Order: sequence, then C-alpha cells, then structure tokens
Amino acid sequence: MKAKLMLIPILIPGALCLPGGLGCGQTTAGPTTASATEVSLPAPSTTGETSVEQALAERRSVRQFRAEDLTIEQIGQLLWAAQGITEPSRGFRTAPSAGALYPLELYLLTRDGVFHYLPKGHKLVQLSEQDRRAQLARAALGQSFVRTAPLDIVITAVYARTRAKYGDRAERYVILEAGHAAQNLHLQAVALGLGSVPVGAFTDAKVAELLNLPADETPLYIITIGHPAG
Ligand SMILES: Cc1cc2nc3c(=O)[nH]c(=O)nc-3n(C[C@H](O)[C@H](O)[C@H](O)COP(=O)(O)O)c2cc1C
Repeated sequence: MKAKLMLIPILIPGALCLPGGLGCGQTTAGPTTASATEVSLPAPSTTGETSVEQALAERRSVRQFRAEDLTIEQIGQLLWAAQGITEPSRGFRTAPSAGALYPLELYLLTRDGVFHYLPKGHKLVQLSEQDRRAQLARAALGQSFVRTAPLDIVITAVYARTRAKYGDRAERYVILEAGHAAQNLHLQAVALGLGSVPVGAFTDAKVAELLNLPADETPLYIITIGHPAG
C-alpha cells in the first residue's frame, strides 16, 4: 500500500502528499510534482554503505519476493543507478553510452500503474493507472514472479538514436548499453537490501503493446525487483 500512497497524488492536479507528509502543498525537500502526471523523485544517495565488491559477491537472481512495496526512495535510487544523470552540464549518466547518445528508456510497472522515467529532472511520468504486471508476466512466458514482485523495470531502446552516428554497429552498442544499465540495477538492488532477476524471455510485441511503445522503440530487458522472500 505504501507505493499507492506515494503515487496516487500525482493524478490529482495541485495536490501531492508523499510519505512523511512531504509535498502536501509545501516547498520543502522531498518529491514534488511538476504537473498532474509527473512526480519528481528524491535525490539519489551516493554514499551507500555496501561496497561494490560486496554487492558483486552477494548478487544472485531472486525470484521470490515479499508482498511489500518499494519506497519512492528505493525506486528513485534504482532508476538513478540505471540511467541517472551524474554530470548535468553534459548530461552524462551512471551507465556509459556510445557517443553519449542514450538510446535507452526505462518503464516501471507497479501496483499503481505504469510509469516512464525521465533522467532529466529525475522524475516519473505516469502513463497508466492500471496494474499491468500480470499482463507483463503473460508476455514473459508466464513467469509468475514478474506479476508478484512489487516492481518490474522494462528497458527499451530507440535504436535510431545510435544508428544515426554508428550505422549498423548500433545493433551491438544498444544491447551492450542495456547490459550496463541492467547490471547497475542489480548491484544497486543488492546495496539496498533488495533482490532482482533479469528477464530476457518475453514476446517483444506483447511488451511493446502493453507499454504502447512507438514503432521505433524496442523492449530489450525486464528487471524484476523486490524484497527477497525469506
Ligand atoms: C540475458 C539474460 C536473460 C535472462 N532471462 C531470464 C528469464 O527470462 N527468467 C529467469 O528466471 N532468469 C533469467 N535470467 C537469469 C539467469 O537464469 C541467471 O542469471 C543464471 O541462472 C545465473 O544465476 P545468478 O543470476 O543467480 O548468478 C537471465 C539472465 C540473462 C543474463
């Protein structure tokens, strides 16, 4: 229910109440709305207590999750790890990108709906209020943890952004970049005490349809994340 409390307010013009009462018509630190359908995410932390070595040693694919939503801080941190902007002057991000052309897009599916991550401004745009995780699980050949986990992140790519400079080599570069972003997500999940699993087995057309992707955007990867059961 936590995520519900966090995200429903973005649907109500002029009103936003997030955990801790932040954002309820105030201007103090914390998530605030830019419009009725956007929510800014909390600033990411760069001082976590888990070393990269620890996260590498502990990472394991997790497929059983507790029925506990992630906090907006955790969601924001994960998205930042995948594609957050770390050098605003040039727009460079946490994950490298061939020619700094950034072909990847991130979509989130939670019980509260479908969201698109905008690295610029570190914010979400809500695309749907419907819980589409069951539909995503069906598209992922019925892998049930995609439905039961609190968060699925779909990594998509607009190949044309990279193709414009690199031609056919874009096919390779874009896939490699998705791997960079995915590994950042897995390691960040460990550092947050969360579990994750990469999902490559899905029907592209079904995922594209449920996300209503434009014709030039291709789903590449699903990363399912939550609190490990047990
Ligand atoms: C490209 C790729 C696609 C994968 N797709 C799936 C998948 O669809 N479903 C799944 O349960 N695991 C999937 N995995 C996870 C692997 O099964 C897992 O990484 C492997 O068993 C090794 O275990 P570990 O991740 O715990 O080290 C995928 C992994 C990769 C790298």
